[in-house]
Amino acid sequence: MKYKRILLKLSGEALMGAKGFGIDQVRLLEYANEIKTVYNAGCQVAIVIGGGNIFRGIQAEKGGMDRVHGDYMGMLATMINSMAIQSALEGIGVHTRLQSAIKMEQICEPFIRRKAVRHLEKGRVVIFGAGTGNPYFTTDTAAVLRAIEIEASVILKGTRVDGIYTADPEKDKNAKRYDNIKFEEVFEKGLEVMDMTAFTLCRENNLPIIVFDMNKAGNLSDLVKGEKVGTLVEV
Ligand code: GTP
Repeated sequence: MKYKRILLKLSGEALMGAKGFGIDQVRLLEYANEIKTVYNAGCQVAIVIGGGNIFRGIQAEKGGMDRVHGDYMGMLATMINSMAIQSALEGIGVHTRLQSAIKMEQICEPFIRRKAVRHLEKGRVVIFGAGTGNPYFTTDTAAVLRAIEIEASVILKGTRVDGIYTADPEKDKNAKRYDNIKFEEVFEKGLEVMDMTAFTLCRENNLPIIVFDMNKAGNLSDLVKGEKVGTLVEV
């Protein structure tokens, strides 16, 4: 196994599957099974999931809502997705712990770094909900922050495209995919991998990012074994 401790970042939208809103139970179970495979192989897994399938702070602002208020609602949306993933994982026999950046003591533990690391060592998947607990930060930033805190060897960004391209592959058919790319080059070429805050945090802390297609069965497990999947961003 190449990666012993990973932070898996999932998008909230991906959980919608074929639906236009909310959570698709089929997709949820597919993801849970992908995670179970690497968990059974002995990989320590932490998860951060977005909330875009339920609520987006930025869009609410366009509709006239206060941005900070909208961002907090978005954090609650990530908690709903986190609870859904937790339930799906537990349902197939994977031990989990959910920690929230905003205290919700009736529902889950608060985020405590040392406890999260202990849970991982004890063979529990740890899900981090409610982003960083602060407005103006994305769940990508939360994912990078938690990955650094728990000393994950890599952040795996599961998306619906299979890596980073020279241009948007959904718009430009000549776009080519990178196998490897340096942080510098991503900056120079203005490629979109994560928002700048998240990306800079990764670069400054030497945390490699792999962007890959989470919807292709087996990808996550191949990645953890060290096979070439998606695009690796490193120093
Ligand atoms: P170890 O002591 O390392 O074995 O960890 P543990 O998580 O098994 O022990 P603990 O007694 O801390 O937790 C038992 C259960 O209670 C777990 O499901 C935790 O997620 C849950 N738990 C712990 N703290 C809280 C909390 O503040 N709120 C809620 N709702 N659950 C909590």
